[in-house]
Amino acid sequence: MTNLLIVHADQIATPTGQDMKRGSEMNEISIINDGAIYVEDELIVSVGKTDEVLAELRRKNITKFDQVIDSTGSAVIPGLIDSHTHFLYAGYRLNEFYERVSGSSYMQIMQNGGGIQATVDATREVTYEKLKQLGLQRLNEMIEQGVTTVEGKSGYGLDQETEIRQLRVLQELNLAQPLDIAVTYLGAHAVPPEFQHNSEEYLNLMIDEILPQINEEKLAEFVDVFCDEGVFDYEQSQKLLEAAKKLGFKVKMHADEIANLNGAGLAANIEATSADHLIKISSEEIAKLSEKKKTVATLLPCTAFCLQENFAPARELIDNGCAVALASDYNPGSSFTCSIPLIIALASFKMKMTMGEVLTALTLNGAAAVNAADKKGSIEAGKVADLVLLKYPDYRYLMYNTGSNIVKKVIKSGKSVFEK
Ligand code: NIG
Ligand code: FE
Repeated sequence: MTNLLIVHADQIATPTGQDMKRGSEMNEISIINDGAIYVEDELIVSVGKTDEVLAELRRKNITKFDQVIDSTGSAVIPGLIDSHTHFLYAGYRLNEFYERVSGSSYMQIMQNGGGIQATVDATREVTYEKLKQLGLQRLNEMIEQGVTTVEGKSGYGLDQETEIRQLRVLQELNLAQPLDIAVTYLGAHAVPPEFQHNSEEYLNLMIDEILPQINEEKLAEFVDVFCDEGVFDYEQSQKLLEAAKKLGFKVKMHADEIANLNGAGLAANIEATSADHLIKISSEEIAKLSEKKKTVATLLPCTAFCLQENFAPARELIDNGCAVALASDYNPGSSFTCSIPLIIALASFKMKMTMGEVLTALTLNGAAAVNAADKKGSIEAGKVADLVLLKYPDYRYLMYNTGSNIVKKVIKSGKSVFEK
């Protein structure tokens, strides 16, 4: 056993609980001043005021520690969870970015063979090793920003071989570096050119062959679909996700991003783990998500910002009792950034979320969006010791120090993995 003791944190700031926080609960943050955290192996054993935790350890005769961290001057928050990314891909789309900045729409570019298809072409070309190396570099960039769990999707292969390769790389990366990766199969990211006029046939291939193989080899936990105009419609999305659920997968959706196809309504009906984007969500869908209580609404403000779209209605979702998570959507097209400070700035200033809501959205609700709220997303006894020490004594500096990375130290599963 190895153990770790953190003492004298100016503030331990965390949501609490084993499940997603909805509505006004999202703003309830537990604050402990002069806090301490005692960790054995990868788990948190106790949390409280420094004098209380020290007294408890003395009572239990625990006097030797492998590491003691004096956190004077720093706030400690849970490790952050980026619950929606497409970080594993080859090639970049700089030209397309320029086209977009000068007025072309994301969907126009996609219909002209660019967009996702351009990244599919590059990803089909690249070797397994090169893809792994690209993934590692990007994960390191995330750790430095306090991310300890990331969701990663396939969806840049579309053919069976490349999709499986992407999933295998994601699984291997999960073991090869400290961050936890929640793996999602997103074969339904676009209709591949081989099936351009026959998306039904592609759907059947995914259902009859690809999903069973992924299930057999345990290559993914989630199945996702891009339900939008010109991609997969409501019925197709429903057919795919129901088949996935039957095999035991949990499901997610890219819903109501560009057009409203009642995607979030479908996500609520089939009890998806998360419904993501939601820029065009309707009031009826918000009511349904709130009523069903099973699905996290994952908002991706960097995507709205980069596509120069409106922001998803975070306030309406929260004020109507939904559980909101925030994520980067990191990908080479619509959101070529995994910047946590940018997410926080946009959520605060443009989506009018409070700092408490933002913290919950990036921790406990992010954990719920990857089906791990019972293990992660808060600083409580029994949870995994994923912790971030900040450069400032109060977690609200995350918002106040606009656009800046104020992460000083990152602990993943009880081990220091980054220090500035
Ligand atoms: O979430 N909307 C679809 N998929 C991604 C974009 C992927 C890409 O452009 O490469 C998204 O925005
Ligand atoms: Fe996405």
